[in-house]
Amino acid sequence: MKDVNFLKEKNARSLWHPMAHPADSLAHPPTIVTGATGVRIRDVDGHEVVDAVGGLWNVNLGYSCQAIKDAIAQQLDALPYYSIFRGTSNDQVIQLAEELRDFFEPDGLSRAFYTSGGSDSVETALRLARQYHKIRGEAGRVKYLSLKKGYHGTHFGGASVNGNANFRTAYEPLLAGCHHIPAPYTYRNPFDESDPGKLAQLCLSALEDEIAFQGPGSIAAFIMEPILGAGGVIPPDKSFMPGVREICSRHGILLIADEVITAFGRTGSWTGSRHWGVQPDLMCTAKAITNGYFPFGALMISEEIAQVFERDETGKAAIGHGYTYSGHPVGAAAALACLSETLALDVPTNAAARGAELHAGLLDLQSQHEVVGDVRGGHGLMCALELVEDRRAKTAVDKARIGKVQEAAYAAGAMVRVSGSNIILSPPLVLTSRDVQAILSALDAGLGAI
Ligand SMILES: Cc1ncc(COP(=O)(O)O)c(C=O)c1O
Repeated sequence: MKDVNFLKEKNARSLWHPMAHPADSLAHPPTIVTGATGVRIRDVDGHEVVDAVGGLWNVNLGYSCQAIKDAIAQQLDALPYYSIFRGTSNDQVIQLAEELRDFFEPDGLSRAFYTSGGSDSVETALRLARQYHKIRGEAGRVKYLSLKKGYHGTHFGGASVNGNANFRTAYEPLLAGCHHIPAPYTYRNPFDESDPGKLAQLCLSALEDEIAFQGPGSIAAFIMEPILGAGGVIPPDKSFMPGVREICSRHGILLIADEVITAFGRTGSWTGSRHWGVQPDLMCTAKAITNGYFPFGALMISEEIAQVFERDETGKAAIGHGYTYSGHPVGAAAALACLSETLALDVPTNAAARGAELHAGLLDLQSQHEVVGDVRGGHGLMCALELVEDRRAKTAVDKARIGKVQEAAYAAGAMVRVSGSNIILSPPLVLTSRDVQAILSALDAGLGAI
């Protein structure tokens, strides 16, 4: 490693950071993380904190998962790369597909299409949804519906179905034919409805209305996160996703579950769809599939869709889509080891228990800190605090003030993530109760600093 002075002097000088203003990165140089153990990260000054961000929703098993590191090292020796484009495969992807098929069997998903990350998985889902309808002779089904507040990555397709202006405006015009309905967000919604069950019904009615307006025969798919994550951790009422499933099925619209953050245990269930008792047609996965140790993802495909593609005799089902790193053997080896560890550790059980402790602790913080307008969570280890200047008017908190909360929480022992007015918590699923308390007391210090 270069010496500390070099790193600090050059920090953000010759690189641009994702999701940041380049001038802001220069004015407020990012924390330089140089090491990690268990659920803790260490910076270049040796300061060590609990990582309440979990990498970026992906390091579910923490930073010391030796089995995955070994699998990556061994695979680099055996076969560091080969493509799986038409005509070639590798041992790791074949084995992984069988394991994924078993894992996702309760979700009704039986085929995998490999990708290099979440945005790729979303792009693949959007494309295959259109192709599915074309194979079946419904070429007019090309539009997509999604939720406001949803996050689906940053490719043009994903950005077009994204429901947050921050990821759209600078890059418009986006894909035509993408339409959004209100999210089941009890704290702020156009219906001024705070009852979760009633709000879910209103959002479902809005979906029905939009389908009627667009014409059901023009819509390829509805894409949603089972629990909205990056948009501020917004868990819907339990009636919402089953309601979406029923409406989609009735209108011949495919349901794409974007489970880039919720697959593999985060919600306290193995998948977010299973959490709500829903079987989607397509499911986007990535992130925790390799514990974040290797960029990799998989779009999981239902048996029904698979049959339509596999039985096609017209040639329309030839897949003109794929990435150089689709089915990377090192990523697949990492995913195999990760899946086995994830199952052995039964992470949803701990995610549910620690998530309940974290959520209760956050509600406690709300009672002590006026700036906490809303606390969201209660479904595994994904929680958010929404900060406001004034509880009654719900005015968004000043950017500099929320930045101070993050800084002070970091000094007090926890890395938390700020997104707009939200502090988002998505720690590793192997967290202990002591780690939960460390996050809560760091946040207490952070909130107390403004
Ligand atoms: C629900 C969801 N979909 C898609 C993505 C995009 O994934 P990636 O950043 O790996 O491209 C994310 C990333 O956070 C996500 O949360």
